[in-house]
Amino acid sequence: MAQIVALLLLIDAAVAAARLLQFNSHGAFKILQVADMHFANGATTKCLDVLPEQYAGCSDLNTTSFVKRMIDAEKPDLIVFTGDNIYASDCSDPAESLDAAFAPAVEAKLPWAAVLGNHDQESSLKRSGVMDHIVQMNYTLAQVNPAGVATIDGFGNYNLEVLAPGQDSEQESLLNLYFVDSGDYSTDPSIPGYGWVMPSQQAWLRNLSSSLQGSANQSRPALVFFHIPLPEVNNFTSSQIVGVKQEMVASPTFNSGFFQTLVEMGDVKAAFTGHDHVNDFCGELQHIQLCYGGGFGYHAYGKAGWSRRARVIEASLSDGGGGVEKIMTWKRLDDEMLSTTDKQELWRRRYEDHTILVESIATEGVEFPRYDPSFSSSNQVW
Ligand SMILES: *[C@@H]1O[C@H](CO)[C@@H](O)[C@H](O)[C@H]1NC(C)=O
Ligand SMILES: *[C@@H]1O[C@H](CO)[C@@H](O)[C@H](O)[C@H]1NC(C)=O
Ligand SMILES: *[C@@H]1O[C@H](CO)[C@@H](O)[C@H](O)[C@H]1NC(C)=O
Ligand SMILES: *[C@@H]1O[C@H](CO)[C@@H](O)[C@H](O)[C@H]1NC(C)=O
Ligand SMILES: *[C@@H]1O[C@H](CO)[C@@H](O)[C@H](O)[C@H]1NC(C)=O
Repeated sequence: MAQIVALLLLIDAAVAAARLLQFNSHGAFKILQVADMHFANGATTKCLDVLPEQYAGCSDLNTTSFVKRMIDAEKPDLIVFTGDNIYASDCSDPAESLDAAFAPAVEAKLPWAAVLGNHDQESSLKRSGVMDHIVQMNYTLAQVNPAGVATIDGFGNYNLEVLAPGQDSEQESLLNLYFVDSGDYSTDPSIPGYGWVMPSQQAWLRNLSSSLQGSANQSRPALVFFHIPLPEVNNFTSSQIVGVKQEMVASPTFNSGFFQTLVEMGDVKAAFTGHDHVNDFCGELQHIQLCYGGGFGYHAYGKAGWSRRARVIEASLSDGGGGVEKIMTWKRLDDEMLSTTDKQELWRRRYEDHTILVESIATEGVEFPRYDPSFSSSNQVW
């Protein structure tokens, strides 16, 4: 009996792991991005930066409840957790914290992926241990590192393919998702601050992307997810962003050329990061949208009175074949109505003379651009 149960469990786990990501029969695929949960011990871990009257009865459980409400409201096809999933230095048992943090995705039986931030490893589990724990959880599609690549820096570099709708599991990917470990802190004593995406990771991505790109007439865009924003994000002015910039961009001080790699790969249309909790904007540079998820977790610093939030990304196929037609994004606030804000088109495929594929970025239709330079966060711990 015990053997049968064990076998059934193995099958269950194998089914979850082999689960295909596929556009639905309406040609849509929706991703929920959850950035910076900073989960610790649950009910005993208190909220930070809420209004004075909100502290009582506010804990990690509010973060859990927000994940569940987002799942109910958006019914995503995939959840991507973009790091600082746990705030490890406050966790009495990091493995238990990881289980609790991702529990809403597992309970909803939804495929989910995760990358590491700079706080996930600050306890007894180091980065490899955190990723090892994540990849054996149910319904996760996360992987520690790519098979067949001899050496790569970091933990949690992998890709997922989103196939065309239908029965045929042999179908090619129409949307590619890249997950990258952006590290934690610089290990070079001459360079202060955060870590960066290393040359080994960029080489792997370049090779992967060239093997996944389709014919010139079939657009096969890619999205990339990692934790720490690129140095280029510092350069946006208030008129170039949708969303708000309320704090300094805490990117690495060293530019490892990752943005240039993304440009040269050609398929990446948007990059989604976390790390800075009170920035929630997207800005476009060289035809790539650089987006923050917006701070999600209640045990993470934030801004009292400014709702915790999550980003939703939806790709849609064109009716007549030819792959992905457009990619939209919006955010939801953790208020009573789960208000939707900053809906925008990130990318749209366009044809010239009906034959030549032209890519373009929508610049019109921008809603609610706001900028609050008065908010200083120099004392914040990211
Ligand atoms: C936290 O959750 C409790 C229990 O559901 C709720 O009463 C409270 O309003 C929530 N706090 C915040 C800041 O959302
Ligand atoms: C996966 O789910 C099964 C029940 O469906 C459970 O018994 C098992 O412990 C879970 N595995 C992990 C690693 O949590
Ligand atoms: C490049 O990608 C191919 C698959 O297309 C793989 O077989 C090969 O190992 C990769 N090489 C490197 C250096 O990553
Ligand atoms: C930001 O803009 C400055 C001034 O134009 C430029 O020198 C710098 O290279 C830019 N930095 C990045 C990371 O793009
Ligand atoms: C490319 O796709 C367009 C729109 O579906 C189609 O009209 C055109 O014939 C295609 N061109 C080639 C070269 O296949």
